[in-house]
Amino acid sequence: MGERAVASDSSSYPTVKRRCVSVCQNRSCLRSGSEDVLASLQQQAPDGVFVQASSCLGQCGSGPMVQVNPDNVWYCRVRVKDVPKLVEEHLIGDRPVRNLLHPRFHPPSPAYYDPTA
Ligand code: FES
Repeated sequence: MGERAVASDSSSYPTVKRRCVSVCQNRSCLRSGSEDVLASLQQQAPDGVFVQASSCLGQCGSGPMVQVNPDNVWYCRVRVKDVPKLVEEHLIGDRPVRNLLHPRFHPPSPAYYDPTA
């Protein structure tokens, strides 16, 4: 009696999956702006997501390269303007950003082809 029930609805706070995001900081990617992509991701990543600089990811012609693990998702030609979408859709929403996927690792699938993407 006299106590007030406190609503505790944890479903209104989505759980962010723990991930590691690697952003190549080797020569080719640096020339394409990967330093700014790294800084932007470090600023915007939600708690539980670790963002780190990496050495060459072996895709030098497709930089800036970003790899997200443990999902094993490879993004190519990532720009600073892409970071908010990558954070919202992948790191928070759990859906990889289709138009940034590297086609070598994620070949387009007709089953998932979205002409509006
Ligand atoms: S320099 Fe970035 S993938 Fe090689």
